[in-house]
Amino acid sequence: MEQIGKILIDEEKIMKRVAEMGTEITRDYQGKELVVICILRGGVIFMSDLVKQIKLPLYMDFMAVSSYGMSTKSSGIVRILKDLNEDIEGKDVLIVEDIVDTGLTLHYLVDYIKSRNPRSVKVCCFLDKPSRRKVDVEVDYVGFEIPDKFVVGYGLDYAQKYRNLPYVSVLEEEDL
Ligand code: IMP
Ligand code: MG
Repeated sequence: MEQIGKILIDEEKIMKRVAEMGTEITRDYQGKELVVICILRGGVIFMSDLVKQIKLPLYMDFMAVSSYGMSTKSSGIVRILKDLNEDIEGKDVLIVEDIVDTGLTLHYLVDYIKSRNPRSVKVCCFLDKPSRRKVDVEVDYVGFEIPDKFVVGYGLDYAQKYRNLPYVSVLEEEDL
């Protein structure tokens, strides 16, 4: 059985950082046609807080991909479970993800989104675990860099649980 360990990033710290990121994105996307693409399900809590801090007109779209199944290790196989609703051709796309770990999911997603001919593509991640990277991906906005620990909360799950925690915690389990 798994259990929630110590809090790695508390709610106050998250809200402060999300506000900073919103300010930066607002500055960078002046006069552009911003489409924020949330990667479900992990990105949804972060995306909802982030868009409220972006003081620009924008569109929101959603994609769902699966790479892990119920395990905590990446298989490297990415499946699209839900595609974009709208055409992104000529738009300035910002992909919003919960975490970049091996980078395999994002690597695939960036290629896929580029194939739809947007004007630009950037990536915004709540968390980054750089020590686990297997493929090179450019991440333009990072909330927090974290060590190589499996974390839950603020959108991140373990076997679909804990997404609603307002903070980020380390998950402790015997056979992770
Ligand atoms: P990557 O393809 O290895 O970069 O994995 C990215 C996906 O794995 C993320 O979108 C998360 O859904 C999941 N993931 C990676 N690390 C964690 C973690 O520490 N906690 C929860 N989910 C994670
Ligand atoms: Mg996930």
